[in-house]
Amino acid sequence: MTKRVFSGAQPSGNMHLGNYLGAFRNWVKLQDDFECIYCVVDMHAITVWQDPADLRAQVREAAAAYIAAGVDPNKSILFNQSRVAGHAELAWIFNCVARIGWLNRMTQFKDKAGKNREKASAGLYVYPNLMAADILLYKATHVPVGEDQKQHLELTRDIAQKFNNDYGIELFPVVEPIIQGEGTRVMSLRDGTNKMSKSDPSEYSRINLNDDADTIAQKIRKAKTDAELLPAKADLLEGRPEAQNLVSIYAALTDMSRDAVCAEYEGKGFGDFKKALTDVAVTRLAPITEEMARLQKDEAYIDSVLRAGAERAHAIAEPILNEVKDAIGFMR
Ligand code: TYM
Repeated sequence: MTKRVFSGAQPSGNMHLGNYLGAFRNWVKLQDDFECIYCVVDMHAITVWQDPADLRAQVREAAAAYIAAGVDPNKSILFNQSRVAGHAELAWIFNCVARIGWLNRMTQFKDKAGKNREKASAGLYVYPNLMAADILLYKATHVPVGEDQKQHLELTRDIAQKFNNDYGIELFPVVEPIIQGEGTRVMSLRDGTNKMSKSDPSEYSRINLNDDADTIAQKIRKAKTDAELLPAKADLLEGRPEAQNLVSIYAALTDMSRDAVCAEYEGKGFGDFKKALTDVAVTRLAPITEEMARLQKDEAYIDSVLRAGAERAHAIAEPILNEVKDAIGFMR
């Protein structure tokens, strides 16, 4: 089977450092060894309310972020999900394959729906089936994501296996997650026990990919820490979630191990460390921010990339979806 990568991010707000370190930069690395498909998952975004004009702008912003981070539209396929109808078609089929008990175990639904479960959209509940459809519509074999998507990928494997079993056909591959590097779980700058996320109401909890250097410096300066010094080894950061998070971010941005970062800053306080972290964050992110801003001014270019990407994606998806329909007994 062709080795194929699929991944995506929701255009539901600002792209942030967690998206970059947990996902985008790994996407970029895979482009030379795999056929890669990177999707702006606008259908996932509407599981919670999105203003139509904002959604369009956010889809373009997400595409600009992918390209600015290094996704090359000439090498990889880059498109927005709603343009390829196969995602919705296969998701329906998977709604009929996945069991309610499986969905009830999804921790992200519980987190996102919160106490207001009865008022959550039905789409939010079946969201993991759509995600499985995204991946399996292309028979993708590898999926680079952050730690928080691991459970959804296990469900994708279960769906693929159950479909193959039920219909007695080896149609879908069992996908391999790629969860790599020191940035697979970047935490909030305000609370080291919470994930950095687009939906956190505090702007100071995250570094956005469109933040300028001063904003990045200010957010890092205000980041929560403790009064202790940096230890010689990363193990000794145990029980200090905020310190652990800043060291991990530094390690991820510089491609160092957390131990090497500790060895370099051993005995220093967070005043010094935050200055160093600001320098590496600005050096690494400023070119991305600039390129994103440039691309966002060129809507015609972004739109043409997304349109062409959707055509290429559709061409791969169509014969696979036909195989699925034949296996099920749908007439076409
Ligand atoms: P989303 O939009 O929440 O995030 C996009 C990617 O960024 C990663 N990520 C993080 N990594 C490290 N630390 C963080 N704080 C952090 N926050 C986000 C996510 O793990 C993800 O890789 N359901 C997915 C989108 C999706 C998808 C797919 C992904 C839809 N279909 C098919 C892969 C394959 C999501 O909501 O990601």
